[in-house]
Amino acid sequence: MTVARRLNKSDAPKNITQDEKIMNENDFIVSKTDTKGFITYGNKIFVDMSGYSKDEIIGANHNLIRHPDMPKAAFWLAWHLIQEKKEFFGFVKNLRKCGGYYWVYAYITADLDDKGNIRGYTSFRRKPSRSAIETLTPIYKLLKDAEIKDGVEASKQTLFDYLAQNNISYEELVVNLQAGV
Ligand SMILES: Cc1cc2nc3c(=O)[nH]c(=O)nc-3n(C[C@H](O)[C@H](O)[C@H](O)COP(=O)(O)O)c2cc1C
Repeated sequence: MTVARRLNKSDAPKNITQDEKIMNENDFIVSKTDTKGFITYGNKIFVDMSGYSKDEIIGANHNLIRHPDMPKAAFWLAWHLIQEKKEFFGFVKNLRKCGGYYWVYAYITADLDDKGNIRGYTSFRRKPSRSAIETLTPIYKLLKDAEIKDGVEASKQTLFDYLAQNNISYEELVVNLQAGV
């Protein structure tokens, strides 16, 4: 029996385009992973938005749909929080199989067993507000530029500096952006 190799970001398209697919107003994208970020479940909307088939998606690493514009600091923050059994809210630009992209407003949290141990993670995503994306795109670019120039620690510091200068927590920033405040 041959075991299919799990897809990951090295299998992602190299022909990245500016084709954006916009989420429908009332849709939810849902996926679940094991403790290492390998996908164990994806709903039909996730399959449709990512452009992969269900067979390709299940078992793949979630980084298959990682968009190169996304700063590493965002994923560092997500994993830092969810491994502590806290909630992560954030805006994520995802890479589709065709090379296009879609933005989501994501929520990720740990799934616990009855002893309180983490047995995996679940993410729900809704359509992000357009103004949030417009505000965040240059901020993510700043973080990405810092990452390329000086590494991920410098990029994280750029995020902390931005929050301090604006006297706002990360959670407040994200919730306000989605609410259009
Ligand atoms: C439940 C769950 C959902 C995730 N959803 C996404 C996602 O939609 N897009 C994404 O790029 N990363 C997502 N991630 C984060 C990935 O696991 C990974 O950290 C990220 O793609 C960066 O990968 P890399 O560090 O290998 O470059 C998710 C992680 C979990 C646990």
